Amino acid sequence: MCDFDEVVNRKGTYSTQWDYTFDRFGKDDVLPFSISDMDFKSPQEILQALITRVNHGVFGYSRWNHNDYKSTITHWYNSRFNYAINEDWIMYIPSVIYGINKIFEILGSRNDKVLFLSPAYDNFFKSLKANQQQFITSSLVVENNQFVINWQDFESKLKDSKYFLLCNPHNPTGRVWSYNELEKIVLLAKKYGVIIVSDDIHMDIVYKPNKFTPILQIAEKLDYLDNTLIITSASKSFNTPSLGGAYVLIPNRNIYQKLMSKIKETDSLGSPMILGIIATMTAYKECSYWLDNLVKYCYNNIMILQNFLEENFPDIKMLSPQGTYLTWLDVGCFNKTTEEIQTILVNKGKLGIMGGDVYGATTPFLRLNIACPQSKLELGLAKFKESF
Ligand SMILES: Cc1ncc(COP(=O)(O)O)c(C=O)c1O
Repeated sequence: MCDFDEVVNRKGTYSTQWDYTFDRFGKDDVLPFSISDMDFKSPQEILQALITRVNHGVFGYSRWNHNDYKSTITHWYNSRFNYAINEDWIMYIPSVIYGINKIFEILGSRNDKVLFLSPAYDNFFKSLKANQQQFITSSLVVENNQFVINWQDFESKLKDSKYFLLCNPHNPTGRVWSYNELEKIVLLAKKYGVIIVSDDIHMDIVYKPNKFTPILQIAEKLDYLDNTLIITSASKSFNTPSLGGAYVLIPNRNIYQKLMSKIKETDSLGSPMILGIIATMTAYKECSYWLDNLVKYCYNNIMILQNFLEENFPDIKMLSPQGTYLTWLDVGCFNKTTEEIQTILVNKGKLGIMGGDVYGATTPFLRLNIACPQSKLELGLAKFKESF
């Protein structure tokens, strides 16, 4: 059953998006369209599986390295992406960002540069900085009404880097990198001996006719598996990030063993969060139909937003997102800074929408999360209109 129109009151649940708006927007009473989670309940099958496990009542240490867990992930890749991954590549990790940091930590010197595309998910900047990892960015450019890689700039920076941190699909622009673009990335990485780390957490939210391709599939074809890895999770797609749990796919045995030792021995995180494991297994075994409906619902919300903009703010540019439930709005037409726009939205509209500067945008953008019931989106858009 999927009732994405159902409004669930998230206030008073320690929800980052709803209960802590003050931290982001300096106000308690704003309607949030901010952090990348959804206002929807997880699928009934997941809720039931969690209830059954909670009713069992004993929450001792657990394990993830069993066929029951790993086979659901191979099944997901086979059935959704038509790609046969090897079960031995899979390792549970507590969260995607934890995994990214640990990979760079085990692979070598902090003076080796990590390259990523900007704008970018804010934690790429924050956590690499906090871990004192060197990084550089290559700015996306708009061509034919879409964000694309500036290949000349990209190659010149890749030459100088040891790692390339890809985000596929891309937060915040919503680009789903095409097969050809991914192929070009792998070929260039191979040319310069750069290790590719792909954060694929948004892989399941892709709008037709776009198609998500796991970069390992291309790396395998181009004989670059040993230097390519994926870090991802079911948490974004099924709205379970607070249950914990993500996973990596690492074909290189040496890197795999190093990461395993880091997690189990150095960080003592051998036992997974069992509710996250149950959620992932149930999602991947039983909830494909729910995800298909979710993607349709989100796409419809994007169309509502697009129609609203065309009617009321035709100068705001939204490059139609190919994936993710995040929309990226070019609000340069207001001739105001992002800060000025935010002041208006927060104080007049009582709206909490992320400013593009958080993601490294150098001109005014907003990142608006549309993963919510249509009624909330419509209320938010009415408030947006009133604000200006
Ligand atoms: C690209 C990207 N990576 C990682 C994360 C966070 O994943 P986790 O909570 O598993 O660290 C997010 C959440 O918004 C994201 O957008």
